[in-house]
This record gives sequence, structure tokens and C-alpha cells, in this order.
Amino acid sequence: KKYKICVIEGDGVGKEVIPETVRVLKNLGDFQFIKEYAGYECFKKYGDAIPSKTVETAKECDAILFGAVTTPKPHELEGKVYRSPILTLRRELDLYANIRPISNFRDIDFVIIRENTEGLYVGREYYNPCTEEAVAERVISKKGCYRVVKFAFEYALKHHRKKVTCVHKANVLRVTDGLFLKIFYQVSEEYKEYNIEVNDYLVDTTAMYIVKNPKIFDVIVTTNLFGDILSDEASGLIGGLGLAPSANIGDRYGLFEPVHGSAPDIAGKGIANPLATILSGAMMLYYLGMKKESKILRMAVKSVVEKGYTTPDLGGNLKTREVTDKVIEEVKKY
Ligand code: NAI
Ligand code: MG
Repeated sequence: KKYKICVIEGDGVGKEVIPETVRVLKNLGDFQFIKEYAGYECFKKYGDAIPSKTVETAKECDAILFGAVTTPKPHELEGKVYRSPILTLRRELDLYANIRPISNFRDIDFVIIRENTEGLYVGREYYNPCTEEAVAERVISKKGCYRVVKFAFEYALKHHRKKVTCVHKANVLRVTDGLFLKIFYQVSEEYKEYNIEVNDYLVDTTAMYIVKNPKIFDVIVTTNLFGDILSDEASGLIGGLGLAPSANIGDRYGLFEPVHGSAPDIAGKGIANPLATILSGAMMLYYLGMKKESKILRMAVKSVVEKGYTTPDLGGNLKTREVTDKVIEEVKKY
């Protein structure tokens, strides 16, 4: 089957790492790539951070490949409203599970599954001038908890993982995270027969263990903000964001993107690490059912990293393009 892929480069290094990933994917299958626009540059040009045509195309394709977008500073907006296009896509396509694997292809190998549609990211914030209080609402729904926890257990089964850890702050956030924790243990009962170990940690304890003893983790499932922070922290274990891919999955759509942002400090220099995005491409291949090709691509990235063919963030001296060339060379060996 010829798969249709919606490609959104976005801003900054997104414009560098996405074309490189497309170049790699062309060596692994027959795809139709459809380019669409989103991000701050798109906003400046068309007055819209994510035109409806982009969302429509995304919905018509078999998968979406997304780079990164820049969030404008409030003073740059002159009072205009700007809503992050990636948050719009996650909501519009109901991409409720965000899978973030943390692996250096050696001793570190675990996965963070982050709830992707609610929590503190619902964007319900207000300021009450009478009380002089700024308030953010944290929405945790039964349905939201159930489907992401279920997803985490299904993921563990499919990928032969042995343990699922629930990360929360239920000692303080008794109602919201209390619900998340309760549903976690309820769902775990449905998986009793598979001998998957289950446990839970507080988010602060988890932050410490990720640094001190990351090997105790296998699959982590957590709420939106905690998952965002812990996955960036965890990427520090594997040399930074240049090697951290992600998948945003719902019941109907899948969107694949690096964990990193538009990296304005290195954009335009040709030194952005393309591997996080290329690995996101490998996750996309798996999602599309191209398991063999997905594995080949991961093995290719592994050997490129092992041989030290890397960009400066991983200690090498190659350019974005040269790293991609090395990956393609490896892919062709299979
Ligand atoms: P960032 O992830 O863009 O960069 C953080 C650090 O990691 C920087 O030092 C950067 O140079 C480095 N880095 C990131 N990607 C890299 C790569 N491929 N190769 C080598 N080094 C890399 O986060 P930052 O600087 O906090 O945010 C920059 C912009 O990106 C902001 O406007 C932010 O809102 C946006 N952002 C967008 C995201 C998205 O589109 N999903 C996610 C995170 C941030
Ligand atoms: Mg983040």
C-alpha cells in the first residue's frame, strides 16, 4: 500500500530535520508526502498558526510527521491570540497518548506514556482581579485516565515490557491525581494474567530516580504536565533532546514528532541532530504496520550513533545532512 503522509515542518530546526527524515523514509517505502503549514512563520504569513486546510489534510492522511514550532513571546503578538498548533492538533485529532521512548541503545531503555489531551494543558486559566489570584484548572476525567492507562498496558504487552509504573502527586492533588491513581490500579486488574509488575511513585521521587537509578523504569504512565517535564529530564540521560522521538496516538490518527522544539539557538546552522525526528519516523513505520522497516531504521540509527557519526550535541562533528547520509548508508545494507 502507498501510504499518504502529511508533512508539517513548522519553524526553526523543524525545517531542517523534517526534510532529512523524508529523505530517509524514501529509502524504506513508497510514500506520498503532502506538505502543509503550521507555526509562527505561518501565523505571520497567513494570520493563522494552523490553517484549517492543514488539519483537513492531516485527517485525510495515514499518518502525520511534525517538526517543531516556535511559540511567540507575548510582546511579539501585539494583542493577537496565538494557540500552539501542536496543542490544536493533539486536541482536534484526539491524540490522547504521547509515547516517549528513552533509549541510548545500550543500558537505558524505558518509555514514558503521557496523557496528551487534558490535565493542566486544557488552557483554562484566568486572573481574578478581586482576589488578585491567577488560577489554572487541572482537568482529569475518568475517560481520559482510563484510555491512557489502558493504552500503557496494551503497549507493555505488545512490546514485551515487564513493568508499568504510575507517576502522580496524589498525596497533594487528592481529587485529580487520586482519580488517576485509582483508575490505574483498576485497569491493572484487567491485565493480571499477563504478569506485568505494577507500582506507583510520586512525581518528585520519580524525578530523583530518573537521575539516580533509571533502570528501575520500564513503562511509565502519567498525566500531561508531569509527562512533559519527566520526558525532557529523561532525555538528558541519553545525551539530550537530539535523540528523543515521540508518537502522539489516538483511536483514529497518529502524529510523529521529535520531543524537542524549534531550537532557535542552532537553527539555520545545519547542525541540528536529525536522529530524534528520524526515530520518530521509525515509530511512524511501526504504526503503519511496517515493522520490518521500522526495525531496520532503528538499527541503522543505532549503528550510526555507535560509530560516532553524530552532530555536535552528541559529541560528533558532522552536519545534519551528513548524519542523514550515514543513516541512509546503513539502511541500504539491509
Ligand atoms: P528546544 O527543544 O527547542 O531546545 C532546547 C535545547 O536543546 C537547545 O539548546 C537546543 O539547541 C537543543 N536542541 C533541541 N533540538 C535539537 C536538535 N535536533 N539537535 C541538537 N540540539 C537540539 O527548547 P526551547 O529552546 O526551550 O524552545 C524553543 C522554541 O521551541 C520555543 O518557542 C518553544 O515554545 C518551542 N517548543 C516547541 C515544541 C514543539 O513544537 N513540540 C516543543 C518544545 C518547545
Ligand atoms: Mg516538552
